Amino acid sequence: MPNLAEISLTKLKKMKTLAFDVYGTLINPQSIVLEVEKFDAQKAVCLVDIWRSKQLEYTFRRGLMKQYANFGQCTREALDFACLQTEVKLNDTQKKQLIDAYQYLPAFGEVKESLTELKEDGHRLFAFSNGTKNAVETVLKNAGILGFFEGIVSVDGIKTFKPNPAVYQHLIDTTKTERSQTWLISGNSFDVIGAVNFGLKAAWIKRNPSILLDPWGIEPTETISSLGELKSCIKK
Ligand code: LAC
Repeated sequence: MPNLAEISLTKLKKMKTLAFDVYGTLINPQSIVLEVEKFDAQKAVCLVDIWRSKQLEYTFRRGLMKQYANFGQCTREALDFACLQTEVKLNDTQKKQLIDAYQYLPAFGEVKESLTELKEDGHRLFAFSNGTKNAVETVLKNAGILGFFEGIVSVDGIKTFKPNPAVYQHLIDTTKTERSQTWLISGNSFDVIGAVNFGLKAAWIKRNPSILLDPWGIEPTETISSLGELKSCIKK
């Protein structure tokens, strides 16, 4: 019969550190379309697509150029670009309305239930984001899921962006875990590839079946279609 120390060691090994990407994984940035539609119903989807892709592009470029500006600034500048490109004319008040709405983006449908189960299983849950700690705290609180997390790890602590390996190092330093015990969970394939490249395990949430993984030969540890599937795959 195993002794008490052996039982707690086995339990400890089963307990994983789960680092959840925020925008595009827990929180749905696409839902901002509803706000943009109030200003231009026809171009809203196009504007939001450009806004999101430019927001990420600006983080990549600022990281490479070593010209860090926080995620909020990248988001504002990307909105300016998206308005210019789509020729949707918004004044400063209207733009501020959209930026404010970014704090009230909802969580994806299955998130609350899945986080409840993972927490009950004893895993350590962290939010891990390009967003600043304050912004992430606000959006998670407004979405009603802040209480699930032991902490928020923000790239703002080291002034660069995903997928710089330094960011994943910052994650394991902050959470004080081994790479082999740490999972990144993300809907953003560039984040998944960055984490696997660094030596973490990573689950890619592929909510939309038509999204492709970049053909770099770096595969996610697991690919799942919703957060609800995470519980069983991290047991392996
Ligand atoms: C984040 C970005 C990738 O939350 O959306 O880190």
